[in-house]
Amino acid sequence: MAAPAVLGLLLLTLTSAVGYKTYNVLDFKAVGDGQADDTNAFVQAWAAACADTIRPVLLVPPGKTFLIGETQLSGPCNSSVDFQLQGNVVAPNWQWTKKDKTNLLTFTNVNRLTLHGSGEIDGRGQLWWDLFKNKTLAFAHCNDLYVKGITIKNSADKHMTFFACVGVNINWIKITAPGDSPNTDGMYFSSCQNVTVSGSRIGTGDDCIAIGPGCSNINISSVQCGPGHGFSIGSLGKDGATQTVENISVSDSSVTDGLTGARIKTWQGGSGYVRGVVFEGMRVRSVQTPIMIDQFYCTSNNCQNHTTAVAISDVHYANIYGTATDVNPIKILCSESVPCQGIHLEKVKLSMAEGTTPLTSVCINVKDGQVNQVDPDVQCVAG
Ligand SMILES: *[C@@H]1O[C@H](CO)[C@@H](O)[C@H](O)[C@H]1NC(C)=O
Ligand SMILES: *[C@@H]1O[C@H](CO)[C@@H](O)[C@H](O)[C@H]1NC(C)=O
Ligand SMILES: *[C@@H]1O[C@H](CO)[C@@H](O)[C@H](O)[C@H]1NC(C)=O
Ligand SMILES: *[C@@H]1O[C@H](CO)[C@@H](O)[C@H](O)[C@H]1NC(C)=O
Ligand SMILES: *[C@@H]1O[C@H](CO)[C@@H](O)[C@H](O)[C@H]1NC(C)=O
Ligand SMILES: *[C@@H]1O[C@H](CO)[C@@H](O)[C@H](O)[C@H]1NC(C)=O
Repeated sequence: MAAPAVLGLLLLTLTSAVGYKTYNVLDFKAVGDGQADDTNAFVQAWAAACADTIRPVLLVPPGKTFLIGETQLSGPCNSSVDFQLQGNVVAPNWQWTKKDKTNLLTFTNVNRLTLHGSGEIDGRGQLWWDLFKNKTLAFAHCNDLYVKGITIKNSADKHMTFFACVGVNINWIKITAPGDSPNTDGMYFSSCQNVTVSGSRIGTGDDCIAIGPGCSNINISSVQCGPGHGFSIGSLGKDGATQTVENISVSDSSVTDGLTGARIKTWQGGSGYVRGVVFEGMRVRSVQTPIMIDQFYCTSNNCQNHTTAVAISDVHYANIYGTATDVNPIKILCSESVPCQGIHLEKVKLSMAEGTTPLTSVCINVKDGQVNQVDPDVQCVAG
């Protein structure tokens, strides 16, 4: 055998003999009774796992509930960490931070992290819903991230946020909060590239998945959303900001009991673009406005129209079926100065959720659109 082959075999034997090491939070003095503060045990276990050079496992064991306060787990680590969330995590039922806009559990600067297991994170947000902006699980600057299987519920604000992460793969996540909880988006992405989200169930009463500024190449498939506001791009261009979103696809998904299904929203006065968007294969049930482009997004009553706007182009809707609760189930509202370009609708059929009121689409300022087998017909989108 050649020397490199022998060396390779030796290394392989050594690795499998020694194996990877497991860092169990219980070995770092976690109590796991849902009462004692286990923040420090999580931080210590993380530090040890992060320093390990052979694919360590960080274990939050099953059958226990760990209470943590605001916890930040940072990289870069010496190897990829396999974070197994088998037990549950709960936020304190007292004020866990004094800072503005904080997260219960944040991963920053960690590459090749895997977070998975059958555990659940309970943000216990009920106490704070009317007051604060505290997220439950956040990832910032985490490249090559995998998140699988876990459940997150009752966040005080967004449930999962992703900022400046490249290469994200999310599967089989469950996110729940009561339908009337405010601002509790399921997942929110900003400045992220190369993301796939699949096979997940999100029902929080707010956006199921929201895609913010600086995102590109995001594929979402097989996500059941509801009750909630569906899949949303934006809002972009607030206060004159220049922002971009590109190459987003949402396929084989559903939205039940929501405000919107497939939505793009931008403010007047901004600049930048949203382009290359596909919404394909979506079943909607009792959704107020299943298809919506709003270039006049405004959360107060006194927004002015401007001559600049975030440009919207190359947007495709196909195979969207189901029921709406508003007589205008398709609203495409584009600005006069920056009309939408390349809006394609094909095989869309929407009917009233209750009763037989005839439906009509609303559409203004679209250039170069195409409509094929769309009911209710969209008039302003023409060749
Ligand atoms: C990485 O490993 C080296 C030694 O192998 C150690 O000195 C260093 O602290 C480790 N890095 C981290 C982030 O723990
Ligand atoms: C959430 O953040 C606010 C500040 O925005 C803070 O006052 C509040 O205590 C935090 N909520 C929790 C549950 O810690
Ligand atoms: C995203 O993925 C594409 C194709 O796999 C790759 O070419 C590109 O470099 C990736 N983008 C980033 C920012 O890593
Ligand atoms: C998203 O889907 C498109 C078309 O199927 C594919 O070209 C692209 O590589 C996918 N991107 C990611 C991040 O999976
Ligand atoms: C978006 O997709 C188009 C067409 O596939 C490609 O040319 C472009 O580079 C992509 N943009 C980004 C930011 O990945
Ligand atoms: C802005 O323009 C839209 C479309 O032309 C129009 O419906 C709306 O009333 C305008 N808003 C204001 C505040 O002028």
